[in-house]
Amino acid sequence: MKTYLMLKRAYSERPPGVSPDEDDRSSEDLIEYFLERFSREGDTVFDPFAGYGTTLLVAQRMGRIPYGVERDERRVAYARSKLHQPSHMICGDAQHIESLDVPSFDVSITSPPFMEKGEIRNPLASHSREGMEYASYIQSLKLIFEQVRRLMKPGAHVVVEVVNIKSGRGVTTFSWDVGTALSEVLTFQGEVIICHEGSLFGYHHSYCLVFSNQE
Ligand SMILES: C[S@@+](CC[C@H](N)C(=O)[O-])C[C@H]1O[C@@H](n2cnc3c(N)ncnc32)[C@H](O)[C@@H]1O
Repeated sequence: MKTYLMLKRAYSERPPGVSPDEDDRSSEDLIEYFLERFSREGDTVFDPFAGYGTTLLVAQRMGRIPYGVERDERRVAYARSKLHQPSHMICGDAQHIESLDVPSFDVSITSPPFMEKGEIRNPLASHSREGMEYASYIQSLKLIFEQVRRLMKPGAHVVVEVVNIKSGRGVTTFSWDVGTALSEVLTFQGEVIICHEGSLFGYHHSYCLVFSNQE
């Protein structure tokens, strides 16, 4: 597997009302690259943190069958307005994937909400008053991907786009922490460093962690 990619961070359009500063979408060329590599026409594609549906929309364009889970209604509405099968974008909580109507899949390409060390909040529940510490959040992601694993067809892949975070709080090794936690439930195949022409929250690179369900 090539361990770096140079991409444009290109999109066919920006969802209405989303400013460049708050645009946390994965780039379409990134999704295309991994769909080419890990799926073929007619395969099922799943994103448990589907956001505006970038993974689903690129999958649809490439003749795959897309499914996603997203808790933000506004994002769900946008994705549904673009999908041939709007019901495949499920408004729900990734922490309860097993209770949602998600079929087994061939590839998942996703990016979870980010969190910094030292914060007390719950990135998985925007309206919750109960915050959590960083370590608990990483554990919650592990539990989500344990459920994701049960939906993987034999030979399926999961690609997780993440970044390390540098801020006033110091450095948060989010990519490595997610990689370590998910390696306890999935088989880590390696990382691909994505170099972007356009930046995402001030970064010109991100990591795609690639997992399978086979040793
Ligand atoms: C980094 S964004 C993903 C963006 C997406 N890849 C795209 O291109 O639009 C993370 C997403 O996870 C969603 N999210 C956060 N907690 C969630 C939960 N418990 N269940 C489902 N989605 C959740 C957020 O609303 C956000 O849209």
